[in-house]
Formats: sequence, structure tokens, C-alpha cells
Amino acid sequence: MNVDKVVLAYSGGLDTSVMVVWIKEKYDAEVYTLTLDLGQREDLKEIERRAYDIGSKRHFSMDVKEEFVERFINPAIKANALYEGKYPLSTALGRPLIAEELVKVARRVGADAVAHGSTGKGNDQVRFDVSIRALDPSLKVLAPVRDWGLSRDEELEYARGHGIPVPGERSKYSIDQNLWGRSIESGPLEDPYSEPGPDVYEWVTPPEKAPDEPEYLTMTFSKGLPVAIDGERLSPVDLIERVNAAAGRNGIGLIDHIEDRLVGIKSREVYECPAAVTIIEAHEELEKLTLTAHELEVKRMLEDRWSRLVYDGLWLEPLREHIDAFIDSTQRYVEGDVRMKLYKGSHSVVGRRSRLSIYKQSLSTYARESTFDQRMAVGFIELWGLQTVTADDVRRTEGR
Ligand code: ARG
Repeated sequence: MNVDKVVLAYSGGLDTSVMVVWIKEKYDAEVYTLTLDLGQREDLKEIERRAYDIGSKRHFSMDVKEEFVERFINPAIKANALYEGKYPLSTALGRPLIAEELVKVARRVGADAVAHGSTGKGNDQVRFDVSIRALDPSLKVLAPVRDWGLSRDEELEYARGHGIPVPGERSKYSIDQNLWGRSIESGPLEDPYSEPGPDVYEWVTPPEKAPDEPEYLTMTFSKGLPVAIDGERLSPVDLIERVNAAAGRNGIGLIDHIEDRLVGIKSREVYECPAAVTIIEAHEELEKLTLTAHELEVKRMLEDRWSRLVYDGLWLEPLREHIDAFIDSTQRYVEGDVRMKLYKGSHSVVGRRSRLSIYKQSLSTYARESTFDQRMAVGFIELWGLQTVTADDVRRTEGR
């Protein structure tokens, strides 16, 4: 393959650092680097310095947190998005945004290729490759880690041989983080029977060390999205950071499960997603108060489909937009307050209220004030069971 100018999604870690040098050497191409701030809590200035040190032609650094929340996290909240019922898709949601920015920078500098650091065994390669192709089929896509076939030791040797600074102590884990969560995999976690050690978690206090007093938090929703905490209106980014901190210090958001990757592999995945699990729980509970049973039933089916599309790298699949249109239509009615109790690893909804509540105490109460006429139930049950009772009678009579 022939490439002249490459824009690389640069994280500042060893893999993508080696890539800068490797691409230059292999293709004799200019390498531009791009780092986005998705809320990964890293020093972008330091990453920029590193990029220039190893020979980036020009480095681009951008804070896209707000866009990440508005265009990617918010739809995930409305969709109660949890892949296989557990994973809030934090890594998966970030990839299409990175792909988009790669393509934009490629156009800006006139590059003919873009590059990312995914391996050939995971979902991220699919998310990057599909999104980049969907946005600009003329761009070539390089995934050096997938191609170079270097073991970890060979990679270290390559780095040392080419003057690439190697971190003194290389993490045992492969980590990806953004505002919506922290994904940790590999190393000792590959044994699915062994409990994650204390060095795995960084955002969440172990539940046994969390405060002994519960913390209450009231989340106000408008059109399906959280807009205030304890009565204080916050920007979308600040709100998520606030919930990450509150839930994190109370031991909430640890996820440890076996996940089915798109490429067929089962893998043991560990996450810290304090804000994501807390906000989704609150949102889901408010929907139960404000949406009809029929709306909820169809929405649950589509939520599952939505999560799968996003997990499987099909953010740009038109079906996703159609599902979003349905979901947005339901979210017009999802507003109100949800009161949560955060305590030593558990996050429970203890109160909910809404002007648009379909729950009516006058109907559900067993007290004398009830407005529900119980005599109506008799005729209803007669019709409801009509076919079942008839079919059982016919088949019994015929001995079948
Ligand atoms: N299994 C998750 C996903 O496919 C997380 C991947 C995290 N990547 C990482 N480098 N640790 O979305």
C-alpha cells in the first residue's frame, strides 16, 4: 500500500507512540497526530509534548466533551443503553466521534490515510473501520497493531531501539477511559475466576471502604435527560462529572462480566461506570412512572437493538437514527424528579414524582378512597380468558 500523509488517533501510550515511528519507517509517510479530550482525565499538554518528541509532523488537540455528551451519551441515556444488560457502552460510544474527527483532520491536512491503535481481536477496530469508511470511502485505514505482528516484548525492543520513551512500569491492563466510564481488560483479568485486584479500580471506592452513612441525591429530568442535581442546574458535562464523583465515592459502578465480542470471542470485561449506571437506573425508573405499559414494551425491544448496533460498530447505520426518532418521541413525557440512595455499592431509587405521572394513587390504593370499581374486573376476566378456557375445554372433551 502506498500512503503519503497519515492522521493517527494518538492516545499518548506506548502502542500509538510506536506507531508514529513505525508508520514513518514502513510507508515513508508524514504522520499527523490527533488527541481528543473525551473526559479521560489525562494531561493533553503532556500528550502533545510526547507526540512532537517522537516526530509528529503536527499535533491536533481538541476538547470534545460537550459534543460527546450531546450527540453520543445523551441518546444512550434515553435508550437506557446497556449491552448484554450490563455494559453502558462507554468505549463504544467514543469511537465514532474519534473516527469523525480523524476524517475532519485528514481533510484539513490533505491526508490520504488515517490510523488507529486497535488490535485485530476486538470491537474497536470494527467501530473505527466502519465509521471511517462510511464517512469517507476514499481514505485508507491503517491499524498497525493488527498488521505488525509484534509481541509485547518485541514492541518494547522496537521502542527502545528507536528512542521511544518507554514507561518505567507498564500497566498490566489495557485501559480506555472517557466521561461515561473506564474499561479495564487483559493481564490478570484474563482468568475469569480471579477477583480483580485493588490496582484495577481507580474511579470507584471499594464498597467496603465507602462511607457508613448513605448519601441521597435527587436527579431532575427534562425530556428524558438529567438537567439538575439536588435542585442545582448543571451543564451536561458537569452533571455527569458530579454523579461520577458521588456514585464513585459510594462504591457504585463496578461491573465485572463475560462479554460477547462481535468477532466471536468471549472476554472478561471489567468497568467502572459510576455515573452511567446511576443515571440509567434513575431514568429507567422515571420512565416506568410516565410511560404506558405499551410504550415501555416496544421501547425495551428497541433499546436492546440500539445497544447492539452501537456495540457492533454500526453507529452510522440508518436504523440507529430511526430508533432514535422513536425514542425521542417517547422522551417528551419523561420528566420529573428521582431520589436515589447511594450506599456502599448500591444505588436504589427511593422516590420518584412527575407532573406527567400515569401512576394514580386513587386507582392503586387499597384504602376506602379508591376510585377503581372492582366489579368491572369480573367481565374483563371473562373475556380475557375466553379462548384459553374454550380451547382447554375442546381438547379435554376430544381427549387430546
Ligand atoms: N469491551 C469493551 C468494548 O468493546 C471495552 C474495550 C476497551 N478497550 C480497551 N482498550 N481496554 O467496548
